Amino acid sequence: MEIKQLDKWVNDIQVNSTAHADVEVVNHSPLIMIGKGRQGAVFQVNDDICMKVFSNSEECDREYYALSLGQKTNLFPRIYRKGSDFIAMELVKGVDLREYLQFQPLTPELSARLINMLIMFKEIGFQRIDLHKRQIFLQLDGNIKVMDVAGMVWRDREYPYPRKLLTSLGEENKALFLTHVLEMAPHVYEEWLYYIQMEELSRQITEVLLSQEPDKETLKNLSNSLLTTDDEKNYVVLLQGLVHKVYKEEWIKLMLARGDDPEKVMEKIDEYWDKREQLVNQAQENHRDEDKYHHDDHKKRRNIRHSEDERQHDSEKHRYRERRFVGEKWREIGERRFVGENWREIK
Ligand SMILES: Nc1ncnc2c1ncn2[C@@H]1O[C@H](COP(=O)(O)OP(=O)(O)OP(=O)(O)O)[C@@H](O)[C@H]1O
Ligand SMILES: [Mg+2]
Repeated sequence: MEIKQLDKWVNDIQVNSTAHADVEVVNHSPLIMIGKGRQGAVFQVNDDICMKVFSNSEECDREYYALSLGQKTNLFPRIYRKGSDFIAMELVKGVDLREYLQFQPLTPELSARLINMLIMFKEIGFQRIDLHKRQIFLQLDGNIKVMDVAGMVWRDREYPYPRKLLTSLGEENKALFLTHVLEMAPHVYEEWLYYIQMEELSRQITEVLLSQEPDKETLKNLSNSLLTTDDEKNYVVLLQGLVHKVYKEEWIKLMLARGDDPEKVMEKIDEYWDKREQLVNQAQENHRDEDKYHHDDHKKRRNIRHSEDERQHDSEKHRYRERRFVGEKWREIGERRFVGENWREIK
C-alpha cells in the first residue's frame, strides 16, 4: 500500500520556502505534483489520496490541527497519515468555486451551502473565517469540501465577517450572495452590512488622511497651547483633578473587589466627593494667604534662577510645585481617608 511508502518517498522530495512566492520543489520521488502554494507542494499518491509536503513543520502541525477539528464533518479531506512535515489526506475532487462561478450562477441553494459551511466553521472552533473561493470545492453530489485551512486557526486577530470569501466572489456575486443572506439569515446580513459600511467608511477616511500631509512646523508652534505647566494655578488644579481621577478609579476597584454593590459604590463615591470638595474649598480658603506667600517666594526664586541657569530652574520649578502640592492639607486628608481605615467611616 502506497501510504506505508510515504515516509520513504517524502525523503526524496525537497520543499523550500521562498520570499513572497510559491515554494520551490525538487522531486526525486515517483509521485506527480498536482499543485503548490506558499506553504507546501501537493503530490498525488493514488486515485483517492494525496500528500502535502510542507516547507516547515510548524505549518504542517497547524494545518493538521485545523483539519483535525473538522474530521467529524464532511467538509474537509480525511487525514490518513501525518509526518513531521507532510500530511497524507483525501484527494479532493470536483470543481472549485472560482471555476464553477465562471459557468454557473450563484443560486440560493449554493448560497445556503456556503452559509452552512460558515456555521460549521464556527461550530468546530475556527477563529478566523478567511477562505478564498478557490479553496472551496463543489463535489459531484453537491457537497462542499474545503482545503488549505491552516490559516483559520492559531490566529490572534479574528474577522467579524467572512471578508475574504465575500471579496473573492467579485462585486456581482458578492451582491447576489448578500441578497441570499438577507433572505435566509437576516440578522447575520444586518451585522455583515454594518461591518462592510464601517470598513468602507474607514477606507474613505484613510484615503483623505493620507492625501493630507501634516504641516509639522505649524503644528509644533500651535501645539504649545496644549502645554499646562506654565500657568501654576491651573497646573495645580489639573494635577489635583488627575489625582482625584486615579483615587476614584482605585477606590472603585478596591470596593468592587470587596464585593460591594456597584450602585452603592457610586453613591458613596459621590457622597465622599462632595464632602471632599467642601474640604478642599475650605483648605484653599484657609491657605490663600499662605499660597500668596509661596507664590511670591517662588517668583523671587524664579527670577534669581533665571539669571543663573534656566534649565536647572525648570526642573527645580517642578519639584517645588510637587512639594507644594503634596504639602497641601486637602491632599493629606484625602490620603488618610483613602489609604487608612477612614474610608470605612465614610461608608
Ligand atoms: N486535498 C487535496 N486534494 C486535491 N488537491 C489538493 C489538495 N490539497 C491541495 N491541493 C492542490 O494543491 C494546491 C496547493 O495546495 P494548498 O493550497 O493547500 O497549498 P498552500 O501552499 O497551503 O497554498 P497557499 O499558498 O494558498 O496557502 C491547491 O491549490 C490544490 O490545487
Ligand atoms: Mg496554505
